Amino acid sequence: MKIYVPLDSAAKALGADELAQAVADEANSRGLKIELIRNGSRGMVWLEPLVEVDRGTGRQAYGAVQLCDVPALLDGTLSSLGAVEDIPFFAKQTRITFARCGVIDPLNLEDYKAQGGLLGLNRALSMVEQDIIDEVTKSGLRGRGGAGFPTGIKWNTVLGAKADQKYIVCNADEGDSGTFADRMLIEGDPFCLIEGMIIAGLGVGATQGYIYLRSEYPDAMSVMNKAIKQALDVGLLGANVLGSGRIFYLEVRVGAGAYVCGEETSLLNSLEGKRGVVRAKPPLPALEGLFGKPTVVNNVLSLATVPVIFEKGAAFYKDFGIGRSRGTTALQIAGNVAHGGLFEVPFGIPLGELITDICGGTASGKPVKAVQVGGPLGAYMPPEKFDTLIGYEEFDAAGGLIGHAGVVVFDDTTDMLSMARFAMEFCAIESCGKCTPCRIGAVRGVETIDRIAAGDATAKELLTDLCDTMRDGSLCALGGFTPYPVMSALTQFPDDFVSKVEAST
Ligand code: NAI
Ligand code: SF4
Repeated sequence: MKIYVPLDSAAKALGADELAQAVADEANSRGLKIELIRNGSRGMVWLEPLVEVDRGTGRQAYGAVQLCDVPALLDGTLSSLGAVEDIPFFAKQTRITFARCGVIDPLNLEDYKAQGGLLGLNRALSMVEQDIIDEVTKSGLRGRGGAGFPTGIKWNTVLGAKADQKYIVCNADEGDSGTFADRMLIEGDPFCLIEGMIIAGLGVGATQGYIYLRSEYPDAMSVMNKAIKQALDVGLLGANVLGSGRIFYLEVRVGAGAYVCGEETSLLNSLEGKRGVVRAKPPLPALEGLFGKPTVVNNVLSLATVPVIFEKGAAFYKDFGIGRSRGTTALQIAGNVAHGGLFEVPFGIPLGELITDICGGTASGKPVKAVQVGGPLGAYMPPEKFDTLIGYEEFDAAGGLIGHAGVVVFDDTTDMLSMARFAMEFCAIESCGKCTPCRIGAVRGVETIDRIAAGDATAKELLTDLCDTMRDGSLCALGGFTPYPVMSALTQFPDDFVSKVEAST
């Protein structure tokens, strides 16, 4: 009998480690032979710890298993959810980037290979650099960190740059509120990221990679370091990648918790041991990045999607999606929501279908007031915009952004003026201080919102002007995008900006 208990942080936070120990102890006391596998998460966070048991007839899932459920779990009398693949939230997904996550033991390379792992790399090893880049370009893959820049074009710039050393840097400083896909991928399928980074190295001619991981992810750090060590031991990484004579080394570097270090130039400064302050672009990191050398900086999900593009071909990937948003997006649904978690689906699903039909609306049962898509810099979308399709251009046209695909749900008790104030305060706290519109503007923004709350209606025009200045004059997305949540709150929910003082006059 195989028993799968996730090692994912979300499952651990809900008692998965204690549960795994209890399962082992109970089996031991019964003299029952079991194989206990610590898998990644299947992404249905409200069902964690989600345990699966395979008694030789396929995996059966058990949701939110408690310590007291362990005897019944082993007896086979605990009520089952059936196969994970049949649970509606899972059945409606198209898992491409996350295909193996939760299925395999993340640190078992044989498991990884049995599920298609390394097929993409083996193909890439037989290709010349330009063909590798062309394959990525043809797939339509765009950066999943937030900006949606075409990955193939970025890689092509690095390939074209002449230098004695180039780097692949993976941005795993997942700082957006409500997002967890990078962490889930690393904890559930670390070899996939390694494989993607090696292919990127082969494509652009880089022999060294770094994963810049946020310090708040100790479990991901542990899994990633173990996977890298194993990859070095078996010759997947190192001076002779899979016996090909090609070189690729990989190391993890841990950030110190600044949100702005998720911005690529700030990240590079931090990686070089300097203070995490944004650098002006140009030069682009693709030309002068880490230690002044041409550098690919890509998000975890962008790199982890590369292996399947090489395994199944660019056309396979490009076939999914809408418009210029090709492939799938890993939506991370959190906040006041009945069924939150990771939902991978081709671009093009309407926002409302996701929130209402798939996630079941709010956890509180009250009506949805707003959904913030794209992290703390994303716009608040009211239910009137629920017909917006999830796609880069489609969201842009609706005044929003997808960003790293975090989706945070709020019910009708939420005060949007407070949310706008929170966005400005967040920017004021996290600002790196390099440019004036953000450094000073965010502080003045908090004061201006307080004036509105105190009944000064004229301050609304001032807030709008300030947001225009921050949007147009800031050096990076932190100052430049903070106006999205602030202005969307002001324009979509004007009633919340009528102060009690104003309302009573
Ligand atoms: P950007 O639009 O300046 O750049 C996008 C990427 O394309 C960068 O890597 C840039 O170096 C590269 N690039 C641009 N032109 C290029 C060329 N000709 N050749 C090669 N590469 C080129 O956007 P930025 O500031 O890097 O990212 C902003 C996004 O980050 C926002 O949309 C936001 O949603 C997202 N974000 C994500 C967070 C997360 O936790 N994942 C946190 C905060 C923001
Ligand atoms: Fe730094 Fe803010 Fe300017 Fe970005 S916008 S460079 S975080 S001060």
